[in-house]
Amino acid sequence: MSVRLATAEDAAAIAGIHVRTWRAAYRDILPPATLAALDESRRAQLWRCRVTAPDPRHRVLVAVDGAGVVGFLYLGPTGDPDDDADAVGQVLALHVDPDAGGRGIGRALLRRAVDEFTRSGYRTATLWVVEGNVGARRFYERAGWSTDGASRREPLAAEGETGELVTVVRYRVGLVPGV
Ligand SMILES: CC(C)(COP(=O)(O)OP(=O)(O)OC[C@H]1O[C@@H](n2cnc3c(N)ncnc32)[C@H](O)[C@@H]1OP(=O)(O)O)[C@@H](O)C(=O)NCCC(=O)NCCS
Repeated sequence: MSVRLATAEDAAAIAGIHVRTWRAAYRDILPPATLAALDESRRAQLWRCRVTAPDPRHRVLVAVDGAGVVGFLYLGPTGDPDDDADAVGQVLALHVDPDAGGRGIGRALLRRAVDEFTRSGYRTATLWVVEGNVGARRFYERAGWSTDGASRREPLAAEGETGELVTVVRYRVGLVPGV
């Protein structure tokens, strides 16, 4: 398995994983009708835009094995008003195909994101996770991230979709300078 920058050709595979992981991870958090209505082709368009956007600070990484794309991570500067976008990077999405879970793919993507943040000169990285997404929270805690006390209510939806309001909590990790 290797991690590389995504290309436009990866957009459909990324969207498929995005929809499948939502259906698995948010089974007890979002209503069945919302999960059933997730639109893979709309999300493929969204990911194609993100992958091809001429914005060097936002990047989509994919984990690839013999079967193709098995996970992805989207990163950029923080958009949180209480943090400095020049000093704080943010993991904006991280999803591993449910069929490929538990093999270290999420960890490899997160490690690469931390490397990219460090190389970009950020001092800290953050991410928001749904409060009830216990599996993902344990995963981040095992990787050394901790809650920083921030929480908010926000719609759980991809860009351009309407979502259910959920509570999200913020995790944070310090980055090692000069790595
Ligand atoms: C969370 C997620 C990215 C983890 O990816 P993964 O490839 O399955 O995780 P890894 O195999 O790299 O696991 C790394 C470590 O985290 C632990 N871990 C992973 N998922 C876990 C879970 N659900 N519960 C407890 N621990 C978990 C692993 O046991 C492993 O621990 P170790 O260091 O003792 O070996 C993946 O399950 C996922 O995509 N979930 C759905 C989407 C999601 O919730 N994304 C995060 C939203 S912000």
